[in-house]
Amino acid sequence: MIVPVIMAGGSGTRLWPLSRALYPKQFLPLVGEETMLQATLNRLAGLDVTAPITVCNEEHRFIVAEQLRFLDQLGKIILEPAGRNTAPAVALAASIALEKGEDPLLLVLAADHVIEDSAGFVQAIQQALPLAEEGCLVTFGIVPTSAHTGYGYIRRGGPAAVGFRVEEFVEKPDAAVAKQYFEGGEFYWNSGMFLFRASTYLAELRKHRADIADACLASLVSTCHDGDFIRVDKDYFLACPEESIDYAVMEKTEDAVVVPLDVGWNDIGSWSALWEVGDKDAQGNRVRGDVFLQETTNSLVHGGDRLIATIGLDNVVVVDTKDALLVATKDRVQEVKQIVQRLKDEG
Ligand code: GDD
Ligand code: MG
Repeated sequence: MIVPVIMAGGSGTRLWPLSRALYPKQFLPLVGEETMLQATLNRLAGLDVTAPITVCNEEHRFIVAEQLRFLDQLGKIILEPAGRNTAPAVALAASIALEKGEDPLLLVLAADHVIEDSAGFVQAIQQALPLAEEGCLVTFGIVPTSAHTGYGYIRRGGPAAVGFRVEEFVEKPDAAVAKQYFEGGEFYWNSGMFLFRASTYLAELRKHRADIADACLASLVSTCHDGDFIRVDKDYFLACPEESIDYAVMEKTEDAVVVPLDVGWNDIGSWSALWEVGDKDAQGNRVRGDVFLQETTNSLVHGGDRLIATIGLDNVVVVDTKDALLVATKDRVQEVKQIVQRLKDEG
């Protein structure tokens, strides 16, 4: 039995002003008609999975429930009073998955990825199943195309039954180290998707970060089932250290295996990443909405309610919404995060 675990509690600040605190990017239809969350589940068609366990912020419970119900895949929705990053989120899901006395395989997925070849993705998961059943933590590795500093890097070791043993896992190295890894050719990017038994994850978390394991366990003692939702104890969960699964477990474990994945994967982490994935016109522009371009090239123009016209732009991002407009050069869109922080601080 495979239980999809959807981590849907991120804030997606680098896709401001479309992605907002009340409506982050995973709930938006950024590529195609379905939302990122719905696409995450739809691409599992063909895999023998149960309804998902989704972990999200309590503020987004109705958005999540509505989007899942539309797919007839409501499953279990665990609500976090505030995000504590992904190590605790997965711990909550793993504990809930064990409640029935079974120890299912968890397919842990981010809610904001694009994968062009769903069939290839499903095939890679199927190949990895025996490894996870034996107690390995499986990660899916992407051949790097740049020295990106926003990803985890996995050094492959000797061959495993499928893929390779993980020799070393380095989460978000600095630019110099990322360059060295990229040029070295021995590394994969961590795709941020994992496959393991619920009990394997909890045992590894306890081994390396007992403080997180304890806090999550405590927060589940007085779980409250509120309709479709599972609410954790607020005080215990807020006391949980904030850490990602990558730092808390993947960098430390000795039982990880990397299965290479070549399926047109992309983490829509910024406007430039969104420009990279979608269809573009002959001038390399990716547009949405009512847009009128003149001598404009290699740009992303995301319209809202009104007409947008541009003249003589190259490598520019324009994103228009009802109450905010972003104009930036494409190579600096990572800095949107800082704008959002400043707006918060000064707002
Ligand atoms: N429930 C919950 N709670 N979900 C969360 C939280 C949280 O506190 N924080 C983040 N998430 C969700 C996000 O919504 C996203 O779907 C997923 O977890 C990953 O979080 P990101 O914040 O997007 O992580 P990242 O992109 O910086 O890094 C991860 O993904 C990379 C690939 O995309 C790492 O796993 C990297 O190693 C990896 O390369
Ligand atoms: Mg991400």
